[in-house]
Amino acid sequence: METVIEKIGASAGKEATLTGWVYNKRSSGKVRFVILRDGTGVIQCVFLKGQVPDAAFELADSVTQESSVAVTGLVREEKRAPGGFELTATDLKLISLAEPYPITLKEHGVEFLMEHRHLWLRSARQHAVLRIRSEIIKAMRDYLDDNDFVLGDTPILTPAAGEGTTTLFPVDYYGEQVYLAQTGQLYNEAIAASVRKTYCFGPTFRAEKSKTRRHLMEFWMLEPEVAFLDLSGDMALAEELVAYAVQRVLAKRKPELATLERDTTKLEAVKAPFPRISYLDAVKLLQDKGKEIKPGDDFGGDEETVLGEAFDRPVMIHHYPAAIKAFYMKRDPQDTSLALCFDMIASEGYGEIVGGSQREDELAELEKRIIENKLPPEAYRWYVDVRRYGSFPHSGFGLGLERTVAWVCGLKHIRETIPFPRMLEKVYP
Ligand code: 4AD
Ligand code: MG
Repeated sequence: METVIEKIGASAGKEATLTGWVYNKRSSGKVRFVILRDGTGVIQCVFLKGQVPDAAFELADSVTQESSVAVTGLVREEKRAPGGFELTATDLKLISLAEPYPITLKEHGVEFLMEHRHLWLRSARQHAVLRIRSEIIKAMRDYLDDNDFVLGDTPILTPAAGEGTTTLFPVDYYGEQVYLAQTGQLYNEAIAASVRKTYCFGPTFRAEKSKTRRHLMEFWMLEPEVAFLDLSGDMALAEELVAYAVQRVLAKRKPELATLERDTTKLEAVKAPFPRISYLDAVKLLQDKGKEIKPGDDFGGDEETVLGEAFDRPVMIHHYPAAIKAFYMKRDPQDTSLALCFDMIASEGYGEIVGGSQREDELAELEKRIIENKLPPEAYRWYVDVRRYGSFPHSGFGLGLERTVAWVCGLKHIRETIPFPRMLEKVYP
């Protein structure tokens, strides 16, 4: 088995060979240090003159930052070392010498770092974010898989808009205009009629026109959809899922959270139940906090920030005016101007991380809504069929992965939550 830094404890007192990249180095007389990074951790390797081949001692000085190398040595416990171990080297072999590395250990501007995103990913903070992102995905999928959800894969190329017609990316499909999926929801609804509880997880696309710290053009969404579930049950599912993922990161990714200097006491509070308030109460809350907003208005980034900061855990706001929400949402039978929907706003001002609703399940209503929204009925024929043949109450939601990662990691900007962000007019690297 290959030895990696994360699991070096198993090799304590023994010789091991590690492969990786030179993170840093320093020399003082007869001793040279190479800080090795192997993708699982960082370890200091000590080279003593006379105790290693001369060529290895020379190389420990001449090797450049980010060169790939193999180091052999004795694994020693070292309480003061960050990972608890050090390597007393016996040999160093060069695999590939790196040219002068553009990202040095000094500070760089964001513009420069984004241009070098493919290299920036190697830095300690980006490494921590990547691992937390992966942990969140695994936790959420575990939660759904363990609760009898069936993964259904929804298409990326779609003939109709799923979520508003203003943010579509058109694609030519053998002469027919189709779009990159904005959501898998509509297809999920059809799959739910087969397996009852389904979810999809994949990239979604929105040609957003504004440049904000919360929007990407390509982002990953986790979307559960459940037959015979109402709005209240939908909110319960969302809070359970989010709380589970946050607690999992706390349990398994403490070192990464520490690298990011994340205040974990804030995350510890993230347990179900989350507060639930109606849209109208949210408007009142905003007015009390001095925001100029009136019933009927949609919430923007500023309002979401204020709402999120008012609670110690995510808050769920339900029953928005139907006029500002999507065509497929079921109306509240008590007041048909309201939609049976909710948004989950993260604490600490990270904005909307989840949007969900109970779906319109009445055939005639849905057909009317499609016309009212000037959508092409022919493209939605299959979607309407789901109501034609044994319609059933059903609900679901979409969780924006990158916004969730930004919140859990405490990142100010969404661009660092995905390896290669797609932002307004920026598609390199
Ligand atoms: O609220 P949205 O638009 O909901 C839907 O797409 C539903 N069809 C989902 C469903 O019910 N199955 O998007 C859901 C979430 C938002 O709460 C937000 O977290 C994220 O997706 N999101 C974005 N994240 C990053 N960049 C963007 N441009 C985003 N747009 C939405
Ligand atoms: Mg939304």
